[in-house]
Amino acid sequence: MHKPLGMKISGTGRALPERVVPNSEFEKYLETNDKWIRERTGIVERRFVSEGETTASLAVDASRKAIEMAGLTPDDIDLIIVATITPEAILPSTACFVQQELCNKPVPAFDLVAACSGFVYALINATAMVQTGAYKHVLAIGAEVMTAITDPEDRGTAILFGDGAGAAVISATPDADGPALLHSTMSAEGSGDSVLFVPAGGSRVRTSQMTLDERLHYVKMNGREVYKRAVKRNHDLVDQTLSEAGVTADDIKLVIPHQSNLRIVESARERMGLAPDRMYTNIDRYGNTSGASIPICLDECMRAGRLEPGDLCLLIAFGAGFTWASALIRI
Ligand code: UT7
Repeated sequence: MHKPLGMKISGTGRALPERVVPNSEFEKYLETNDKWIRERTGIVERRFVSEGETTASLAVDASRKAIEMAGLTPDDIDLIIVATITPEAILPSTACFVQQELCNKPVPAFDLVAACSGFVYALINATAMVQTGAYKHVLAIGAEVMTAITDPEDRGTAILFGDGAGAAVISATPDADGPALLHSTMSAEGSGDSVLFVPAGGSRVRTSQMTLDERLHYVKMNGREVYKRAVKRNHDLVDQTLSEAGVTADDIKLVIPHQSNLRIVESARERMGLAPDRMYTNIDRYGNTSGASIPICLDECMRAGRLEPGDLCLLIAFGAGFTWASALIRI
């Protein structure tokens, strides 16, 4: 999608569980240490849900804040898209749980599965929906309880992921001269199905005592392979966006990358030749929250005044599938 499309991020919100889990916590039961985790990932601590906190409850909390910032009420929302790989339940969709909690009337609501690229996919879809003229205010949410699918005994993944949610209200604007989605890409290539995946629980491998005993209901990741692919794909995303959108890195006020690993993010920053303060990171505080990481960052930046009307902001994401997506937005 390369024609500028009028849309406004009229509100953002985030929800992080209160429970803070420092790296030292893992030293108690895994063969790992704080130094390794900091140096290899950039993570210092992350948030884990407590009893009663779920994907939908975090999504609703983030959404209420986004709706309030937009100066709207939940009844103004006419479509809900939830990007998640850790749904409230297999059935119905997490978006239905969010609708039930948030809205007084029925609205269309659906989930979108694109792993770490999920929120950027949701934002692009929300923009397309407001462009049809049929919807005025679409809620795009990235919400994850990664602890639901992470094996606490697997040091390769347990230290990496965290829980949280972020939301944005995408509102219709009449033209693309002001706030707009200037350029976007979404893509997927299924060859990642054996390097980052949850083997059991679907129709291919049904849940059984064997799958539980073998811990096949948890995420399996070949971290090194995903790492290599993420670095390469981020470079390609950046190059493609700059060239197709006709902008330079200097034109972009802030890049918000998916918070996969600080070293992956740093590699994208170096590729663009950006100063550290123009590439936003918060992985030190929240770890990798998959589809929730970009909207959480976006909300922190909006509320801290790091993004103001007229600024260009680039979102880039790569994740399981493989999937990848980018969005160049004028705020
Ligand atoms: O969110 C989107 C998808 N996910 C990602 O983008 C994540 C991409 N991958 C990564 O971030 C990194 O690959 C990890 C952080 C997961 C792992 O870091 P790495 O630098 O790629 O480590 P590695 O897997 O190459 O392992 C290096 C060594 C190994 O030991 P040997 O074989 O060299 O003796 C691992 O067994 O580090 C060991 N290791 C650990 N040591 C201490 C792996 N995990 C740990 C750990 N603590 N938690």
